[in-house]
Amino acid sequence: MIATTSTKNLTPFTQIPEYLQTIADYERQAEKHLPENTWHYLQGGAMDENSVRENLQQFQKIQLVPRLLNDLTQGSTEIEILGQKFPHPIFLAPIGHQQLFHSEGEAAAALAAEVLGSNMVLSTFTNTDMRQLKKDNPLKWFQLYWQGDREKSLALIQLAERQHFKAIVITVDSPHTGIRDRERRVFFQLPQKMQHPHTPTHIPLPEISADQHPVFNGLMQIAPKWADIEFIIAHTHLPVILKGVLHPLDAKKALDLGVKGLIISNHGGRVLDTSISPLKALQNIKAVVPQDFPLLLDGGIRRGTDIFKALALGASAVLIGRPAIYGLSVAGALGVAHVLKILKEEFEITMALMGTATVNDINKEYISQD
Ligand code: FNR
Repeated sequence: MIATTSTKNLTPFTQIPEYLQTIADYERQAEKHLPENTWHYLQGGAMDENSVRENLQQFQKIQLVPRLLNDLTQGSTEIEILGQKFPHPIFLAPIGHQQLFHSEGEAAAALAAEVLGSNMVLSTFTNTDMRQLKKDNPLKWFQLYWQGDREKSLALIQLAERQHFKAIVITVDSPHTGIRDRERRVFFQLPQKMQHPHTPTHIPLPEISADQHPVFNGLMQIAPKWADIEFIIAHTHLPVILKGVLHPLDAKKALDLGVKGLIISNHGGRVLDTSISPLKALQNIKAVVPQDFPLLLDGGIRRGTDIFKALALGASAVLIGRPAIYGLSVAGALGVAHVLKILKEEFEITMALMGTATVNDINKEYISQD
């Protein structure tokens, strides 16, 4: 049954209505399924939300220049990153607390990802225990938020190793949460009883004296440093990927330390407002790393053409954050699967119209920038 009477807090659909054809359709619909403060938590970003908007607009500044009459009969969206093959380059970004959006949370997202052959990056803040994800599905990476010290962080990584996760993504762009005014205005708080099987919601802060600074002497003491990344790399057999890198000098440093890939991201505009847009950062970083060094990108992907543009500028794959959660909110696993299907089909058709048979064929020659 499709509920249509109320316009707020609709129960999730069990079948997909015809009017949901695009990610924008899902965005509009998702708002109707969520409490108001949860909606603002999902949609919002840091401060004036310039980066949230810019993440979307960055793609509109790039135009496509198609090539014609190429033979595409052997076409494929398959990609390979760090020796791992993926059927297509659309991954699920790590999003915490997914039971806010649907009672089945990450379990539903994982099911959809498996069916659609999408690589899922599971957040440290998952409500679903990582042991519940299918062990023999290789399309899963684990995202680590630093646990305040090396021992606890490594313990989580070792658990992910035992569950056959294939890479560790360490998110390094948020040693402090963003100043999210919109969230504060609507008094957003996580439900008190919400379960996080792998982490406390707040890592205890070191005690500081009255003359010490709560940010620099408190929180920054338990924030990860480059030496911690080195330590993790030395203690796991999994490839380590850093998420949230925007500066070319950090990219070079990461590479030198043995980091195996980067996710170029400004955290969906949620941490530092007016931070550089991911597409610009991608180009800056692409210029200083070896050609085959994996650079992934997230932020603002809403269309198959956006995926094409990111790959043309040097991304190996992209991740979607909010779009997957729109799908989850609207129709659980079915909704996430439909969102992935929409993007995958849009991307395939874009490839066909652009005259590119394989992902490797996609490059800068197919785009024009203002
Ligand atoms: C996030 N993001 C995020 N990133 C991360 O590394 N760990 C996490 O737990 C979360 N949690 C989270 C919650 C919510 C509600 C959002 C919207 C985002 C950031 C996420 O992985 C990704 O970088 C952005 O969502 C990408 O931008 P789009 O696709 O939402 O535009």
